[in-house]
Amino acid sequence: MKGIVFTEFLELVEDKFGLEVVDKIIQQSNLPSQGAYTAIGTYEFSEMLGLLKHLSEHTQLSIDDLLLTYAEHFFSVLAGSYPDLVNQYNDPLEMLSSIENHIHVEVRKIYPDAELPTFEVLEKTDSKLVMIYKSSRAMYSFGLGLMRKTFEHFNTTADITLEKLKSDGTEVKFSIIMTNE
Ligand code: HEM
Repeated sequence: MKGIVFTEFLELVEDKFGLEVVDKIIQQSNLPSQGAYTAIGTYEFSEMLGLLKHLSEHTQLSIDDLLLTYAEHFFSVLAGSYPDLVNQYNDPLEMLSSIENHIHVEVRKIYPDAELPTFEVLEKTDSKLVMIYKSSRAMYSFGLGLMRKTFEHFNTTADITLEKLKSDGTEVKFSIIMTNE
């Protein structure tokens, strides 16, 4: 997992819960990196799981809720860092249906070792998109948060429902329906 995912995560934890909580979850997680992340480095995904688990214990918030909130923050980071990627789109469904064949393809050129999910589009109309998320990291709540922010970015609204196709969350079907005119 790329370092930027860790550095932004710890910054958000510091903002919301304070530096003591950052120090505490780093201590509790026994991290090979010891929590010394650089944005361009690459670290084990298990480090993120450790941090999330201990933050969840500390805050009594579920890992899914933490990932959702974190993704909403991360969208702004991505849109700020890669404006040209986002600005190519003027419609949220076009953007979301292009993650697999465009956005994450570009991401892989920038970070060849990025660990990205796959999104398979099953159905797409002007107002509806159905796609299947697959990833061994089961970060579907992170995907949901990024999707929600995508609609906000385009000043639009949508109903997004998800259905786990595998109970461990490594395969999830997203059904997205635009709700505005
Ligand atoms: C992960 C880039 C848009 C879904 C990532 C990572 C980067 C990235 C750098 C981390 C990879 C790693 O740690 O190795 C971008 C950029 C975007 C974008 C630059 C737009 C400009 C989106 C959108 C979604 C999405 C709109 C919506 C579903 C995900 C998910 C992950 C991820 C779910 C977590 C990894 C996993 O589940 O396996 N993306 N992304 N991305 N991205 Fe994107």
